[in-house]
Amino acid sequence: MNQDEMKRAVAAAAIEYIKPGMIVGVGTGSTANFFIDELAKIKGQVETTVASSEASAERLKSHGILVEDLNMVDVIDVYVDGADEANKYLHLMKGGGGALTREKIVAAVSRQFVCIADESKLVDIMGKFPLPVEVIPMARSYVARELVKLGGQPAYREGFVTDNGNVILDVHGLEIMNPVEFENTLNGIVGIVTNGLFAVRPADVLLLGTPDGVKTIT
Ligand code: A5P
Repeated sequence: MNQDEMKRAVAAAAIEYIKPGMIVGVGTGSTANFFIDELAKIKGQVETTVASSEASAERLKSHGILVEDLNMVDVIDVYVDGADEANKYLHLMKGGGGALTREKIVAAVSRQFVCIADESKLVDIMGKFPLPVEVIPMARSYVARELVKLGGQPAYREGFVTDNGNVILDVHGLEIMNPVEFENTLNGIVGIVTNGLFAVRPADVLLLGTPDGVKTIT
């Protein structure tokens, strides 16, 4: 099985978590795109969806799947999304696609968060993938200096503007020993909108694509 086949397999496995009448949160990225394509096959059973990015909303609509503004729903039954890194505690690093803020909001509103990823995303220590941090544009240099003090090497994601009109700093060189603590530390820096650690609210289920099939980690 190649990487795309593993992504397709976990996307198909995630469909098991979708029950008739549910409101489904839909993530962003190549693995989430496979999930959207699978969801299209059962779209008649879904009450509605909430998308974590404009790109995913467009893909959902192109399949004829309903997409609702988050403000129109009280709770999301299940949220399915990929990750850039995951550990065995279901802490995630996300935001490689730049959609981290909306993803973290959707995760917060969701009863169940099902993360789908191929096995290359499973790590012991997070930080090899540069940590995405969404920043208010005027605070970019200040936040970068604060990130250096924390041991990181921030790189400005050139030419990229988030769906919320902000910029991204990708922080290299981190070894994140305590993701919950580090997420909270970053939350305390003025000018950061969202950091890509999903540890305070981790996933509830990790579906991991391997050459031997899909492994479920809870
Ligand atoms: C989007 O902002 C990210 O959080 C994605 O969920 C993450 O980058 C995973 O993307 P792939 O499924 O393309 O690896």
